[in-house]
Amino acid sequence: MAAPGYRRDHAQHATLPDSSRIYLRRVREADLRLGPAFFAALSPRSRYLRLMQQANRLPPSTLAQLRSQLRDPRCMVLAAFADHVGGDELVGGGRIVPTGRREVCEFALTVVDAWQGRGVGRVLMRELTRAARRLGYRWIEGYALPINTGMLKLARISRLAPSPLPADPQLVRLSRRLFLTNRPTDWPTDRPTH
Ligand SMILES: CC(C)(COP(=O)(O)OP(=O)(O)OC[C@H]1O[C@@H](n2cnc3c(N)ncnc32)[C@H](O)[C@@H]1OP(=O)(O)O)[C@@H](O)C(=O)NCCC(=O)NCCS
Repeated sequence: MAAPGYRRDHAQHATLPDSSRIYLRRVREADLRLGPAFFAALSPRSRYLRLMQQANRLPPSTLAQLRSQLRDPRCMVLAAFADHVGGDELVGGGRIVPTGRREVCEFALTVVDAWQGRGVGRVLMRELTRAARRLGYRWIEGYALPINTGMLKLARISRLAPSPLPADPQLVRLSRRLFLTNRPTDWPTDRPTH
């Protein structure tokens, strides 16, 4: 899946432990057309771990939510692309969205199977956490199935503490308290251009 022909302005570049290069940038409306193919290319297990239900296709409601999140200043939606010679491949994505609690945002992220375990999730989680802090949230949290060993390990590395969810024993809550810093911002605050 190639990225629409955008300049890589405002992108964050990272080198993974296996020396592959990726870059992260905000998702734009035009990128959403990559969503269905990205989702369809995931293994059934990855789709299940992400949505916590079986789904062969990206639910239209998920795509619609994503579209409105792109326009919401309380959200940040990021995509990770492999930095190949001759084209950019969408390898992962993540987002933070507000919750009903003012100081708490919720994260979710997905990495395509061929790129899992190579460090993309760690980079995405780091940037989502930075974005959450910059948007003024004091807590970041997400939910995972207890069988999601990859997410639980990534959570440990990212200093997200697991806790049981009494209302839903099928899920683990992963949360981290955020402290404000004066670090310069890494991401543009301008609206995505379409
Ligand atoms: C969970 C997920 C986002 C992690 O992304 P990732 O790119 O694989 O994560 P990383 O490569 O940065 O891995 C972080 C650590 O977890 C380990 N890890 C990743 N997947 C693992 C797995 N399935 N089993 C055990 N360890 C795993 C990595 O080896 C790494 O540890 P290390 O630094 O000691 O080597 C990814 O596996 C995924 O998209 N899963 C399907 C969707 C999903 O579960 N989303 C989360 C719900 S919010």
